[in-house]
Amino acid sequence: MRSIKNVKKLNNKKVLLRLDLNVPLENGRISDTTRIDKILPTLDFLIQQKSKIIILSHVGRPKGKILKELSLKPIGDDLHKKLNVKVKLIEKNINEIKNKNFFNYFDEEILLLENIRFYDEEEKNKLKFGKHLASLGDIYVNDAFSCSHRSHASVCQISKFLPSFSGLQLDLEMHALNKITKEITKPVTCIIGGSKISTKINVIRNLMPKFDNFIIVGGMANNFIEFEGNSIGRSIKESDCKQIIKEILSLSKKKECKIILPEDVIVSKTLKGTPYNRELNQVNSDEMILDIGPKTIKKIMNVIDESKTILWNGPAGYFENQDFANGSIQIANKIVEKNKYNKIFSVVGGGDTVSLINKLNIADNFNFVSTAGGAFLEYLEGRKLPGIKALN
Ligand code: 3PG
Repeated sequence: MRSIKNVKKLNNKKVLLRLDLNVPLENGRISDTTRIDKILPTLDFLIQQKSKIIILSHVGRPKGKILKELSLKPIGDDLHKKLNVKVKLIEKNINEIKNKNFFNYFDEEILLLENIRFYDEEEKNKLKFGKHLASLGDIYVNDAFSCSHRSHASVCQISKFLPSFSGLQLDLEMHALNKITKEITKPVTCIIGGSKISTKINVIRNLMPKFDNFIIVGGMANNFIEFEGNSIGRSIKESDCKQIIKEILSLSKKKECKIILPEDVIVSKTLKGTPYNRELNQVNSDEMILDIGPKTIKKIMNVIDESKTILWNGPAGYFENQDFANGSIQIANKIVEKNKYNKIFSVVGGGDTVSLINKLNIADNFNFVSTAGGAFLEYLEGRKLPGIKALN
């Protein structure tokens, strides 16, 4: 894998830069800018090298549709403020931009193509779309480690047609994760939560042989709670995963990896509704599980106490509302407390989890903070990520 930092002559070269600017947006406002802040050194480097930068990124999951609320406009504005260079959002249909000369008409230093997932071809990983994207630049840089587990056109296909390089942030994340996997001390506990259930459920099965404890919380836990015969009301869940849950539970015994699941939960009728503490068999059909309860928190605290390494991906509840943030906050504070006395090695990853620890202002109290969620877990699994493979 060749890194862009070792390439010196970029004068006037058009660099197609794949970033993961998938930041949380609330009514057009960015509520956490970590993913933007982390790639500023790459942009500074490319600016200094006098290259012409064309950014490709997605935000959210628009599934091939143009959704105004998932425009990259607020992200472009934030980049402009932070870099003090002009950033132009290109809203024109990418398929109608015929060749790289199109960009000669702009004098902005940075061009930002509108959300790449507005195009169906992106997630379908269409070769033709990748080829077309490649035709717009001279070289390709992937600085989006957090989406390198996706076989998408702007992550994989594009690199078939251009000299391709890794970016500064991708280098950093891979270096740190390599070091972590080599230096890991047992007992190792992985806390896995959040709402991206389909991405992570397979990963759990594959990671179990490597870990001593798996704490499953957040949306991820709902499927397990239901599997055990409880009603989960209107809570988020993944369909068709009974078989894999069965496998996970039986593997847990074989591999001596403990699975820790919620014993009680906090529910409400809406995301803004009144919170109630419930036993697992008490959730009503019109309620949603939005956090873990006090009994579960106590159990998790004990497991963290006994661990030497913690890998945490995905919050324990709907932390965006203070009423459902307690579980995640207690987990975060416990890790920080143990970290203070060097009693634990802690790695945290994923957009939401990073946003949570930033809100609490404790990001500096973890040993490593990765911007990646699914990619981080798949990398730990030892899988070759398609985006990294493409760079090789
Ligand atoms: C992430 O937030 O983990 C990345 O941006 C990838 O997003 P995705 O899970 O929607 O592919």
